[in-house]
Amino acid sequence: MENRPNVNVAAIGPEEVPVIDLSGDIDERIVEEVGNACKEWGFFQVINHGVPLHLLEAMKETSKEFFDQPMDEKKAAKRDEVNPYAREMEKLAFKLMEIICLSLGLPGGRLKGYFEEQTSFLRINHYPPCPFSDLTLGCGRHKDFDFLTVLAQDDVGGLEVKRNGKWVPVKPDPTALIINVGDICQVWSNERYKSAEHRAVVNGEKERYSIALFLVPSHHVMVKPLEELVSEEDPPKYLPYNWGKFYATRNRSDYKKQNVDNIQIHDFRVPN
Ligand code: OGA
Ligand code: NI
Repeated sequence: MENRPNVNVAAIGPEEVPVIDLSGDIDERIVEEVGNACKEWGFFQVINHGVPLHLLEAMKETSKEFFDQPMDEKKAAKRDEVNPYAREMEKLAFKLMEIICLSLGLPGGRLKGYFEEQTSFLRINHYPPCPFSDLTLGCGRHKDFDFLTVLAQDDVGGLEVKRNGKWVPVKPDPTALIINVGDICQVWSNERYKSAEHRAVVNGEKERYSIALFLVPSHHVMVKPLEELVSEEDPPKYLPYNWGKFYATRNRSDYKKQNVDNIQIHDFRVPN
């Protein structure tokens, strides 16, 4: 019941996911704004992000063509349908990783080495219009288990972020990109930044597309709070876990019964 789309939704008001202008070189303002957004929300939108808008448009067109195919052909393509334009979103994801490192007082390239054989992937979401939009969710509440997600969406809207117990709708802007930090960032930063819960509601009349790039490290990486960010007063809040193993276990359990809990970073949390 508390998971129904119309329960506990914040009224549209002053509380809005921050919008950050990324134009120009990385400077103090950008680092500070990204740091604050990560700390306060775990979510933000970026404008003037450098990903050419015609590429975003083309990606959305390709997604639409893909979903308009008969089921047999969709199944044949499945997850291999990776859009070569996705490179630009990946470039942006690495730029944001650099900014996040700087905002944590680390060298910009601190995390780069963990991504040498990165296994980042793209997911295309299609939410058909749903006559029972007040009873149904397009994508149930969850946290992303990656380091960082870059999401492109159309002008329909539906994404909501949990903040102080309320669901805050993210204003749809097809020219902006939505960024959120995931569980790996929460662990590396020893919870300075937290991965926010979010979900997508469906629209009664319009279909909606979104494309998400999930930035994840190389399989062999052991994820644990970074040494520079722990101290005697602030000891590591997580035990190390192997990223590849975590991911494989998580993928297997995705297909299990709904009431079986997925493996989560919480399983590695050190009790307070
Ligand atoms: C996701 C996700 C939200 C959306 O794919 O992990 O949160 O708006 N998608 O499609
Ligand atoms: Ni998500």
